[in-house]
Amino acid sequence: MSVILVTGGAGFIGSHVCEALLKKGETVVTVDNLDPYYDLSQKEGNIALLRKHKGFTYYRQDICDREGLAAIFEKHKPERVIHLAAKAGVRASLEFPKLYEEVNVGGTVNLLELANKHKVKLFVLGSSSSVYGSRSKVPFRESDPVGEPISPYAASKRSAELFCYVFHSLYNLNIVCFRFFTVFGPRGRPDMIPFKFTKLVLEGKPIIRYGDGSSKRDYTYVGDVVSGILATLDKTFGFEIINLGNNKTVTLNDFIATIERVTGKKAKIIEEPMPKADVPITCADITKARKMLGFSPSTGLEEGLTKFFEWYKTK
Ligand SMILES: NC(=O)c1ccc[n+]([C@@H]2O[C@H](COP(=O)([O-])OP(=O)(O)OC[C@H]3O[C@@H](n4cnc5c(N)ncnc54)[C@H](O)[C@@H]3O)[C@@H](O)[C@H]2O)c1
Repeated sequence: MSVILVTGGAGFIGSHVCEALLKKGETVVTVDNLDPYYDLSQKEGNIALLRKHKGFTYYRQDICDREGLAAIFEKHKPERVIHLAAKAGVRASLEFPKLYEEVNVGGTVNLLELANKHKVKLFVLGSSSSVYGSRSKVPFRESDPVGEPISPYAASKRSAELFCYVFHSLYNLNIVCFRFFTVFGPRGRPDMIPFKFTKLVLEGKPIIRYGDGSSKRDYTYVGDVVSGILATLDKTFGFEIINLGNNKTVTLNDFIATIERVTGKKAKIIEEPMPKADVPITCADITKARKMLGFSPSTGLEEGLTKFFEWYKTK
């Protein structure tokens, strides 16, 4: 039975990817160190949910620990690696740049070395739209210049992409790097605004709106992201970078209005200046994903936030 190694399976996107793979009957091994960046009970809940499936193995394992990882590769001999473990969060990366470099770059290099040693058929990297930096020209295309990241997180993701390229070029590893655009949905990250704003609005507490609300994001439903990732499994890419976004940008004000409709509560808003590391707009050109993967995002913001809210109420 061929094994798929998913890193970061206790996290938001990783848990959805593992679940979808297990539902397809795949054998999944995940490594995740349960990083304390957010509520551990959410990550433990994700692992408990995945443990209900046959064919699932979990290791509490740090991707910076090369020997620990090597033993897992030796034991399970994965044919494919979907690498989603990372220190996530743009703003937090300003406080701990070294840590972001160690995990997001160093951890990725550990995995690339082992993937190469074990001749895996496919290596998928979860990268980020943040690599595009502070651009006003939209939509963002994979061929756009990405030499000016504006946060340690973005720099770490671009560095990870570059190391992927190196391993492809030197050893012919089959690699696809996905640039995700603000992913949301059930089991979403508590530090991201769908979760944060829903919680505050429900509690009747004010939300902080950075800027005048005109900043724009391309919100992508997690189920659509999972479809894009699963479409890679039997493909040969050589080396590709592919945007996975929704290709529809929404202003922060419209986003807040959608949260109000979904929760049935009015938001109290406090305005603060935009943080320096926040980009003003993201919008994905998804022509390449459509062509190469048949990617066709089908869940819009309101429908996706409604699904998120259904999950949130069960917490
Ligand atoms: N959610 C988004 O909107 C978004 C956007 C762009 C890129 N991404 C990328 O997608 C991937 C998944 O993001 P997510 O939103 O699910 O985040 P997440 O924080 O929920 O998941 C990441 C997981 O990685 C684990 N992890 C962190 N450091 C680790 C280490 N040293 N060793 C092993 N595991 C470690 C964490 O415990 C966590 O469970 C990340 O690489 C992230 O950078 C996410």
